[in-house]
Amino acid sequence: MLTQAIKGVKDILPEDSPKWRRLEDAVRKLFSDYGFSEIRTPIIEHTVLFARSIGATSDIVEKEMYAFKDQGGDEITLRPEGTAGVVRAYAEHKLFASRPVTKVYYMGPMFRRERPQAGRLRQFHQIGVEALGVSEPGIDVDVLAALVELFGRLEAQGVELHINSLGCKDCRAAYKAALKDFLMRKTDSLCPDCQRRIETNPLRALDCKSERCKAATADAPMMSEYLDGDCRAHFESVKQGLDDLGIQYVVDPRMVRGLDYYTRTTFEMIAVDKQGAQNAVAAGGRYDGLVEEIGGPSTPGIGFAIGVERLLMMLPEAGNGAGSPQVYIAAIGGRAERFGQKLADELRKCGIPAERDYSPGGLKNQMKKADRSGASFTAIIGEDEMARGAAIIRDMKSREQTEVRFDRLVEEIKTLTRSL
Ligand code: HAM
Repeated sequence: MLTQAIKGVKDILPEDSPKWRRLEDAVRKLFSDYGFSEIRTPIIEHTVLFARSIGATSDIVEKEMYAFKDQGGDEITLRPEGTAGVVRAYAEHKLFASRPVTKVYYMGPMFRRERPQAGRLRQFHQIGVEALGVSEPGIDVDVLAALVELFGRLEAQGVELHINSLGCKDCRAAYKAALKDFLMRKTDSLCPDCQRRIETNPLRALDCKSERCKAATADAPMMSEYLDGDCRAHFESVKQGLDDLGIQYVVDPRMVRGLDYYTRTTFEMIAVDKQGAQNAVAAGGRYDGLVEEIGGPSTPGIGFAIGVERLLMMLPEAGNGAGSPQVYIAAIGGRAERFGQKLADELRKCGIPAERDYSPGGLKNQMKKADRSGASFTAIIGEDEMARGAAIIRDMKSREQTEVRFDRLVEEIKTLTRSL
């Protein structure tokens, strides 16, 4: 019996990869335009890193982590997100000393043991950025502008940027106390999860999916009423900056986010489908206390992560050109096949994608395969051509054929394919 892939873990097959590559290429260009450099952090980290950063009472740490003890007894976790690892690397390598403002991006697989469904996987991919070392609201605006521009360049339709401020440690403490008071009075109307979290993580009640909790918290106090002067001014500057750049957004006072490290600006890019269902394609925010929390110096930070699978579901088809050879070599007969092998090798070395038939049949059969391959030109070489020392080059679109001498063949193909 075939051993299948793990539930919620997907292969990216050759026909899907052009879409991924197109996205990754666009992302690399865009992030470099906005001054971000690439960072690659490990997929495994010490479990304690995630408990300390994402929060011991978050859903991710409580229920969703792939955590295990390795053969040496170390507690290891497959990263459920990218921010914690980036912040760890920033502190561990003292980037705060060499690069006081560090702007990085990353892409790669993340792991959460959630219930798989469309757009929710156990191994999924994120593309994210983190900007460390800047407390001014200008960086919030830059980070949001990069996110919005990316969706624009990719022509992703039907997304809304939702923003909120979660305040700082101080003003959030006052808010949490008020919210706790409110929830205590509603205990009986809350779902068991939220009842349990009143003490540990009351904010989560605001984005609980259960209808009971939605109704019970409809008139709950909001963070916006508790922001202190500095946090309020920060949020106003971010909104002003977005207005100046002509970026549209919705202020969503109920947005609380599921990770504990957030402070001040938080945001989500929400896809609204034709049925009106909402789904976060990207999310992020500020985490001004996180570097310190994991043992580095007090450093502000802000970033976001895009769910790649969710984003790809929204994009127009990439077109089937990617991955097609430019030249197909149809060789008939032993001598011609050996010549065809050499020709393919020479073309590939010149950077011209070339393909050929490894178990060639007759000419008709090979021309069918050439057609299907999407190649722009086919080089036809049979016994007659070998005898004449010339190949036939067929333009697959116009169907025009020309004879080209072997000693001119590579040069001629180079000229023909230059404009492809
Ligand atoms: P997050 O909201 O947990 O934030 O995840 C960001 C995005 O990853 C989500 O909006 C969603 O598109 C995608 N995502 C999350 N879980 C899954 C899943 N099981 N299957 C498919 N896609 C998923 C973070 O991870 C933060 N580290 C973002 C951040 C960066 N904040 C600051 N810097």
